[in-house]
Amino acid sequence: MCHMNTGEVSATKSAGVVGVVGAGAMGSGIAQVAAQAGHEVYLVDAIAGAARAARERLAGTLAGLAAKGKLSAADADAAAARIHAVDAVADLPACEIVVEAIRELFADKVDLFTALAATQPANTIFATNTSSLDITEIAEQVAHPERERVAGMHFFNPAAIMKLVEVVAARQSDPKVLDRITALARAWGKTPVRCTSTPGFIVNRVARPYYGEGQRIVEGGYANAATVDWALKHLAGFRMGPMELTDLIGHDVNYAVGESVWKQTGKDPRYEPTLIQRTLVDNGDLGRKTGKGFFTYDADGKPTDAVVDEDLARRLVGGPIETDPVNRTLAMLVNEAVDLVARGEASAEDVDIAMQLGTNYPKGPIQWGHEIGFERVHTWLRTLDAAYPGGRYRPSPALLDGTVR
Ligand SMILES: NC(=O)c1ccc[n+]([C@@H]2O[C@H](COP(=O)([O-])OP(=O)(O)OC[C@H]3O[C@@H](n4cnc5c(N)ncnc54)[C@H](O)[C@@H]3O)[C@@H](O)[C@H]2O)c1
Repeated sequence: MCHMNTGEVSATKSAGVVGVVGAGAMGSGIAQVAAQAGHEVYLVDAIAGAARAARERLAGTLAGLAAKGKLSAADADAAAARIHAVDAVADLPACEIVVEAIRELFADKVDLFTALAATQPANTIFATNTSSLDITEIAEQVAHPERERVAGMHFFNPAAIMKLVEVVAARQSDPKVLDRITALARAWGKTPVRCTSTPGFIVNRVARPYYGEGQRIVEGGYANAATVDWALKHLAGFRMGPMELTDLIGHDVNYAVGESVWKQTGKDPRYEPTLIQRTLVDNGDLGRKTGKGFFTYDADGKPTDAVVDEDLARRLVGGPIETDPVNRTLAMLVNEAVDLVARGEASAEDVDIAMQLGTNYPKGPIQWGHEIGFERVHTWLRTLDAAYPGGRYRPSPALLDGTVR
């Protein structure tokens, strides 16, 4: 008899209703993830019919997954049946959380949360999937106390596949809201990391030098794009080199993220975009999608002019830091990661998880710092700072003060 009340009933509590505003690339993926996790999901979009069209597409995606044996036909049907489309934000039912994935415009996000505050219950979470806007500034524009339930839930593209979710704290965010978003991300099969709302959050901030240093080696004429890519892949274990990767992402997109972080940090030279990439953007050489970026691509999307000089790469790596594509890049990645941790913007563990899951790095930058030695990284940066003065290579004081030991 004493076994009857186990207290486990609460674990079977059904999943709450999820609202997703913006039925584009990200919103659709987020809706799919939430529906597969058992939530009733309501999609809404500013364009008439877009939410309904997204729901149809998602039913097809789920059926496709079932056809490939990734989930049962019954589960696919049930998940598809849990996705609903409504015509207006005011038509959303009471939600546990509303995730917005509308266009990246500050005023639109503020207007949306203001409208939601008027129609949703007091404990509904307002999560933004913004990549580049300051969530503290968004929350500031939302009426008190509604702003305490605004926080970031930053997915990566494609949202249905990428495991990482950055749970981003605005200054006003209620810690309970952050805990609830973290728990939801986990329940949705994601790996959440926590950070504060600073430019680029973790991934888009720490990744900057991966592109910037490779481009500067090419710009300096020390090695061509294919050779730098080869060195980072074959001598450091990165899945893609910075040049082929930015050709894939699109230089317009990659440049815009870099420029946004640079501007939001008051044009800190650490994040200054390169002239070589600016020129690609200005010339419309946006990468694979236009047939030309750092490389020229044939009709099958294969580069036709990627000539690797392996001997040169082997000579440069381990040589003077100014011309070493691998260690120069790693030094800057470690520096950035250590600074983030020292400022209390994220934990060392979360930075490493984020970079491995968000950008596929073979190791986290903090782990690299441990392996290389933080003092050695500091020495490399001082050499680079002397060679290229101006502040880009200033070493974080935290490299030497034991912050990440
Ligand atoms: N694409 C990515 O790689 C990526 C990754 C992470 C985060 N994000 C962020 O996610 C958000 C959406 O990006 P996306 O790539 O899905 O864009 P998208 O253009 O594919 O989709 C945006 C959708 O929102 C709708 N919309 C725009 N304004 C609206 C409004 N005021 N109310 C309702 N619906 C509105 C549009 O009609 C469109 O369907 C942005 O904030 C972006 O920064 C994008």
